[in-house]
Order: sequence, then structure tokens, then C-alpha cells
Amino acid sequence: MQEQIDQYTTEINAFSPANADELESFRIKFLGTKGIIKDLFDQFKSVGPEEKRVFGKVLNQFKQLAEARYQELQEKFKSEVENPASNIDLTLPGDGFNLGSRHPLSLVRNEIVDIFKRLGFVVAEGPEIEDDWHNFSALNFPEEHPARDMQDTFFIKKNNGRDDVALRTHTSSVQVRMMENGKPPFRAIMPGRVYRNEAISARAHCFFHQVEGLYIDENVSFADLKQTLYHFVQELYGEGTKVRFRPSYFPFTEPSAEMDVSCTICGGSGCNMCKYTGWVEILGCGMVDPNVLENCNIDSKKYTGFAFGMGIERITNLKYVIRDLRLFSENDVRFLKQFQTEII
Ligand code: DAH
Repeated sequence: MQEQIDQYTTEINAFSPANADELESFRIKFLGTKGIIKDLFDQFKSVGPEEKRVFGKVLNQFKQLAEARYQELQEKFKSEVENPASNIDLTLPGDGFNLGSRHPLSLVRNEIVDIFKRLGFVVAEGPEIEDDWHNFSALNFPEEHPARDMQDTFFIKKNNGRDDVALRTHTSSVQVRMMENGKPPFRAIMPGRVYRNEAISARAHCFFHQVEGLYIDENVSFADLKQTLYHFVQELYGEGTKVRFRPSYFPFTEPSAEMDVSCTICGGSGCNMCKYTGWVEILGCGMVDPNVLENCNIDSKKYTGFAFGMGIERITNLKYVIRDLRLFSENDVRFLKQFQTEII
């Protein structure tokens, strides 16, 4: 028995577990209900009274040693769990993270900008808070034009004593700023946010986005306008997309037109997106009215040019079949994450 105990004592002193599982096996082996110590005590019952005196003490000391060693090792593993630095598993895969996606309006705006950049257009911007001159008067809006009415325009009340300040209703105001501040030729597109006093619904919003285009030089004709916009549509909606121009009216262009494209959803055969006409309107355009050129100190005898303006929401709706304008500004992630076409 003494020999056995000596052997176990050496084993216990040398025991150095690598993890908590090994320590638990140690506990079961020595201190468990069917363990070595229990077994030794069982053997102890059958030894003679003389031996009992000797071994009683030895056995109790051995038991204490095993318990003390177990407790000591348990402490060590406990402190490793509490101290994460020593508990890092470098083989675990890293935490994943979600990539954002571009807003559909940004995707489409970038696409429009790219197409016109390839044609040599530069990008220009202007202020969203405008005055009557840049938003209306310089653009040849008659004094009594209904678009100046409070119903359409958000006026800003008495700004530094002025009462002609408003949120711009269209990006055409940037044309004026560009022509006033530079010298022809001009070849620019002007994306931006615009505001109108409209009740919010699936089909109207109090703010939306436009891209304005302006090309002024000597001898620019309506044929240039048609070819430029025709090319734009082929690039945006694909080769073979048909276009048609319908006469229209804008104060700042003469002649003016609206441009339709063959329905981007049904290809022209008729669907509820094009109201079964096969055509959808995408922009307004025309030759810049000489009055506008003169208002911006440009010689209208020497220079001519064309302008156009389109709503980015409209183009986006036609591209992705979106039927409710409110989706664009509600920031619903379920909507936004469908546009993961480009990594930011
Ligand atoms: N500013 C017009 C609007 O908001 C759009 C427009 C039409 C712009 C014709 C133009 C143009 O430059 O030539 O409805």
C-alpha cells in the first residue's frame, strides 16, 4: 500500500493539465466516487490494527495532497477564463461585417453623370436656397406665372429683409449661375435636389432630384440636342430604345419639347407602367430662349444652345420598377439592400 501511495504521490505532483478537461479527468480518477482514494480507503478497512495506525495517517495526508493539488489547478484555470488575453483562440474565423450599398438614386445619378462625362460634359452644382432671379426671372418666367405661386414653391419668409428667397424648384437655376459666372462655350450637367410644395404620396414628394443639362456654343442646333439625347438613352436603357419628341412649353426654351422613350418595362407593347401607350416621358428640353442668354449677359446673336432637365426618381422608377416615391426617403433597409450592385 505504501508503495502504491508513493507512486500516486509522484504522479499527482508531476500532473500538469493543459486544459480544464484534463483537470476534470484527474478529479474523477483520484477524488471521484469510484476513484483511487475511495478505493484505498476501502482497502484500508481490511488491514490489521497495527497497520491501521500507520496507514491512517499516510492515507489522510495523501487525500489532502490530492485535494490541495486539485484546488490549486482549478484556481489556475479559473483565472485563465477570466483573463481573456490568455484565452484567445486564433484559429476562430473573424467577425463578419455588413457592407453598405449605394442608394438607388445615387446609382442612377452616377450612371447619368458618367454617360454625359463621356460626351465631354462637366458637372456643376448650385445652391438649394435660391432667389427669385435665379429660379424664375432670369429663366424668363413671366411675373404672374403660376409656378411662382405659394402652392408650388417653398418661400423663406423675410430672409435678411428679403422676401424673394425660396428653396429651388428645379435645377435650371444652376444654368443661370453658370452662364452668369463664366464665358461660353458651356457644356455641363447639374445634378441636385429640388423642392416643391406638394402633398406627399406615392406619386409626388416635397423634395426630389433632377439632372439639368446645358450646352451653349456657336451654331448649336436642335439636331445636336436630338442626337445627344438619343445617344444618352441608348447608353442608359440599351441599344434599340426608341425616342420621340413632342412639342411642349417651358418659359426658358424656344422651341421646347418633351422626350418619350419606348417603355423600358414592356419594350413598347403596352403595360401598366406606360399606361398601355408603349411610351414613357423622361425629360423636358429645348433650345435656350434668347431672353435667357441675354439675362445672363451672353450675346444671343452669336451663341445658341440647348438645355434639358430630367427627374432622377422617374428614371430610377423606370429602371427598377419602383412605384412608390416614398420608398426613396424612408431608409427602409429591406428596400435599400436590394441595390447591392456596387461595393462602396
Ligand atoms: N426645369 C424643368 C422642370 O423642372 C425641366 C426642364 C425642362 C429643364 C426643359 C430644362 C428644359 O433645362 O430645357 O420641370
